[in-house]
Amino acid sequence: MSACTPLNGNGFTLQPSKRRSFKGLHASHLISQFQVTTAPYAIPLPSLHLHQPSKFRPKKFNLFTVSANSTKTHFRNKNPKEINVLVVGSTGYIGNFVVKELVRRGFNVVAIAREKSGTRGKNGKDETLSMLSGAKVCFSDVTNLESLEKSIENLGISVDVVVSCLASRNGGVKDSRLIDYEATKNSLVAGKKFGAAHFVLLSAICVQKPLLEFQRAKLKFESELIRESEKDEGFTYSIVRPTAFFKSLAGQVELVKDGKPYVMFGDGKLCACKPISEPDLASFIADCVLGEDLVNRVLPIGGPGGALTPLEQGEMLFRLVGKEPKFIKVPIQIMDFAIGFLDFLVSAFPSLEDVAEFGKIGRYYAAESMLILDPETNEYNAEKTPSYGKDTLEDFFKRVLEEGMAGQELGEQTIF
Ligand SMILES: NC(=O)c1ccc[n+]([C@@H]2O[C@H](COP(=O)([O-])OP(=O)(O)OC[C@H]3O[C@@H](n4cnc5c(N)ncnc54)[C@H](OP(=O)(O)O)[C@@H]3O)[C@@H](O)[C@H]2O)c1
Repeated sequence: MSACTPLNGNGFTLQPSKRRSFKGLHASHLISQFQVTTAPYAIPLPSLHLHQPSKFRPKKFNLFTVSANSTKTHFRNKNPKEINVLVVGSTGYIGNFVVKELVRRGFNVVAIAREKSGTRGKNGKDETLSMLSGAKVCFSDVTNLESLEKSIENLGISVDVVVSCLASRNGGVKDSRLIDYEATKNSLVAGKKFGAAHFVLLSAICVQKPLLEFQRAKLKFESELIRESEKDEGFTYSIVRPTAFFKSLAGQVELVKDGKPYVMFGDGKLCACKPISEPDLASFIADCVLGEDLVNRVLPIGGPGGALTPLEQGEMLFRLVGKEPKFIKVPIQIMDFAIGFLDFLVSAFPSLEDVAEFGKIGRYYAAESMLILDPETNEYNAEKTPSYGKDTLEDFFKRVLEEGMAGQELGEQTIF
């Protein structure tokens, strides 16, 4: 499927960039805090073929059409209304906030989507178009490079920047490889083919300790993205590695409100995070489109304030509902036992590999902090984890207590 509908192309407002103009590409790659390592990754994949932007036919949509003479490195000197930003993963939880923020800032946003989007395809075509209003919606298949390239070609535009918010919807083994690596790479290859000079990747802070398949898939793409910018000095990247999203911490809000105890692993202090709200993260990602200081960097990012453990999050919730704290402390060893058992089953029944992977995802987030892992001490460090934005988890909890979890569904993955 590669139908791109010329709808929703209006409503752009010009917002002047607050940033200085781009003065030149950085020769050295500034990786904040830690270096990216290439994780072992078993499946054979085609090598990256990046073509010159020669095939696009700029004629179909006035709003987006640019001169074929446009050079890909000049987008930073243009106004947002002249900059074409291709967003893949546009219908995801963060992707949708990112589309809205980019539209608000006046960019020409082309949102790649599936006609049936959302968890298990729950949104039909009209709903998908409506959630992406203000953007140019292009229905395509990011898992198929040929189809994706054809769709972009049909739009008749060049691409200046690709923003990827793609993520496996379930975190399973094959799906992670398909989406977090292959489909994301397809968007790089296709984006570059049509002129993209910059790629903004939504990754995750947890890839610094990659024990899960989706983390290895993300890390593999990260390292290839960095290599691509090393080979092509006109091409840059920003890799955004956020800590926990608010929604991921809200799973027990309504239970506590209903008088149930708060469930946590160990003493509730095994892990911590500096949660970031979806609008704040979307704003940071949008900053990466033009931000000269955010170019060629791996950018771990958390929200405002200090780190919070599950115990502190639970205490906050009980305080907000005005009830006496009640905790159930589950020994983490229970998860280790369950994972060991599932791994044993997988050796006999390989079809259970995703079930075992989901167990590992649960175990990971029960014990690993979503903070910078200091390479010197090999410990998580809240102070070294940068903060951005203004929204606090406490205000978010208050809102969920008043308005419920509508629009905050947790998706298919166990935690992330
Ligand atoms: N949750 C957290 O606290 C947290 C913290 C840090 C980092 N992260 C990372 O943030 C990223 C984004 O998370 P999110 O919650 O926004 O993800 P999400 O809501 O699950 O969105 C995933 C996006 O990828 C698309 N996608 C998935 N499978 C696809 C397929 N087969 N074909 C085409 N498109 C497909 C989805 O499209 P459809 O709508 O068509 O399915 C959707 O647009 C993830 O990589 C996650 O690891 C999460």
